[in-house]
Amino acid sequence: MSRDVLIFDTTLRDGEQSPGNSLAPEEKLRLARQLETLRVDVMEVGFPAASEGDFRAVGAIAAEIRGTVIAALARCRERDIDLAADALRGAARGRIHVFAATSDLHLREKLRITRDAALELVRDGVRRARRFTDDVEFSAEDASRTDLDFLSRVVETAIAAGATTVNLPDTVGYATPQEYAAMFRAVRERVPGAAGVVLSAHCHDDLGLAVANSLAAIEAGAGQVECTINGIGERAGNAALEEIVMAGRVRPQALGFRCRIESRELYRTSQLLSHLTGSFPQPNKAVVGRNAFAHEAGIHQHGMLQRGETYEIIQPETVGIARSSLVLGRHSGRHGLARRYRELGYELDDQQLDVLYADFISLAERKRTVLDEDLLTLLHDSFQDAPETYAFSELTVSCGSGSATAEARMTGPWPGDRTATGRGDGPIAAAFNAVAEIVGRPVDVESLSLRSVTPGRDSVGQVFLQVRIDGKTFSAHSASTDIVEASARALVNALNKLHHADHLEASSLNDIYLWGV
Ligand code: KIV
Ligand code: ZN
Repeated sequence: MSRDVLIFDTTLRDGEQSPGNSLAPEEKLRLARQLETLRVDVMEVGFPAASEGDFRAVGAIAAEIRGTVIAALARCRERDIDLAADALRGAARGRIHVFAATSDLHLREKLRITRDAALELVRDGVRRARRFTDDVEFSAEDASRTDLDFLSRVVETAIAAGATTVNLPDTVGYATPQEYAAMFRAVRERVPGAAGVVLSAHCHDDLGLAVANSLAAIEAGAGQVECTINGIGERAGNAALEEIVMAGRVRPQALGFRCRIESRELYRTSQLLSHLTGSFPQPNKAVVGRNAFAHEAGIHQHGMLQRGETYEIIQPETVGIARSSLVLGRHSGRHGLARRYRELGYELDDQQLDVLYADFISLAERKRTVLDEDLLTLLHDSFQDAPETYAFSELTVSCGSGSATAEARMTGPWPGDRTATGRGDGPIAAAFNAVAEIVGRPVDVESLSLRSVTPGRDSVGQVFLQVRIDGKTFSAHSASTDIVEASARALVNALNKLHHADHLEASSLNDIYLWGV
């Protein structure tokens, strides 16, 4: 018999807070829209007390997304809870998610409080959250290393104070599936009120067991699983949403649960997240990795030609991967391009098609064949997360034997064009120095990574950049067959984000005074 299980996505909170995955509020909103299309039941979208950016992102998402529960995280502290409630004010269905550590190790070394004081913290935190909403989740951080008797008292206290969902995380990815399932069974047996709330699993992947532990928890009665797209998250990551969902779809009898996820949106969601963060899943990643559906060995290819099921337990279409890779070129028309995007799952409006067709033609002039991966890169590059304040009018670079010179001409928040010459030991450094000279701000490159979108010498190179300007870090990306141009454009995108963030900060100063940060 199959049971309904809720999918709680925490990509925009636990996933986003891990290094290299941070997103601007506009990017979070774009991913939130896709998570709604994916039909997650709950999306946790930030920790409003942690930063003004998180507060703003939670507010923007809560104001727009109507079909999904929007959760915001808070410690069991009044200020955290009040800020979470404030950020969720516009939500159609908002959830406050309060947490407190419960293992002796955390109580002694981190919080420096007794077990009794921890129980008080839980009770007061949940009660305060209940003043704002009927939907309150409590998480016992490090539950899997918490003494079971004490954990049962914690759960009892949270339920008595009004929690409607109780989460028992394996915070450090330490549990084995048997142990994790046993904890859920024990809590259900010992806490009479547990039958009246949703028990939730939240697993980290330090031992590579996050998905197995989540499935074990479902079998032991969990009614919700917390997970992230591509398994991103603290350290080794969280349980991967796409793996849990597809395990349930492919093995319904063995696993016995259902969820309402639209599986054909899985690949698109994974790709969107990767293009936003610049961090792509490893090629052999289950369900969404580049090689997940590639059959290399001759014997496998032969079997596949006879009958798909020989070596394929998931049909690529089920997760939204188009089976044939159509080749487009310079002579392909607008209709052909629009049709291919449709086949890839993207319905373009006229304005988008105008922009993408121009980009496509310019790419097709430099590259003989344009593949699906190129089209996806063009699409993701075309989204503007900040108004285009800065732009190149011209960029010329010359280089050789360890030195390079770049001449740049740019428009910006000043009248007319500005020009400058930059020098460096390579063309990218020279181009960056020319841009920094024009904008009159030092630019610190924290990381630059390059990805070849398709194989071949004329491949598009996609550059992901993290830069620090005026004490703030921005990530940005751009793509071109010329990687110097792509790098310089990525830097200009980061400058546009900085300009936009400065503008938003100035306009929300009054609000900040109001909530006293
Ligand atoms: O891993 C964890 O314990 C958490 C909680 C805050 C839910 O992320
Ligand atoms: Zn976590």
